[in-house]
Amino acid sequence: TPVAILLSGRGSNATALIRAAQDPAFPARICLVLSNRPQAPGLDVARAAGLPTLAIDHRPYGKDRAAHERAMHAALEEAGAQAVCLAGYMRLLTPFLTQAWAGRMLNIHPSLLPSFPGLHTHERALEAGVRVHGCTVHLVTEGMDEGPILGQAAVPVLAGDTAETLAARVLRQEHQLYPQALLHFLTNHPPCASSADALLVA
Ligand code: GRF
Repeated sequence: TPVAILLSGRGSNATALIRAAQDPAFPARICLVLSNRPQAPGLDVARAAGLPTLAIDHRPYGKDRAAHERAMHAALEEAGAQAVCLAGYMRLLTPFLTQAWAGRMLNIHPSLLPSFPGLHTHERALEAGVRVHGCTVHLVTEGMDEGPILGQAAVPVLAGDTAETLAARVLRQEHQLYPQALLHFLTNHPPCASSADALLVA
């Protein structure tokens, strides 16, 4: 299945997905790595792996989120993507993109949802005093970090943890979880060719 990755930064989760997809037995082929930041290190990782990359900078679009998303959507279609993995894509999506990719857009979030949606999850987990933290792969819907959960991995919160040590422990799990969740998703719920088809089979 052709799968596109959307990112804005470092790209360590993208790297995990790219590595997994290098195995011919893995059901995803990465057809595009797309960023809203031209300087995102994640694009370099993808180029080094010989994958098609594209940056569509959001800044020239100013406040016109919809126009930026239309350009992103056109690039995804052009690449033949049948599913999209958000991997550190740091812009909020409008209903245009979430609806266009409903049921075939995945996200990874660094907390055990529904706890701690949004930013600064590790700081907030420490403040809340939780003893177990982790990460979640979920389908993207209109509400931020709200869609159906596809997979989760838990880590302990240890005495003396800082946001950095906790983030690092969670991140190692993210790199395991995301490829597993994508494999499971593609194997059990192969995405439909379009959202219109998705409505037909629902
Ligand atoms: C990860 O913590 C991910 O869960 C969150 O953004 C971060 C992206 O990191 N959505 P990377 O770019 O994949 O290294």
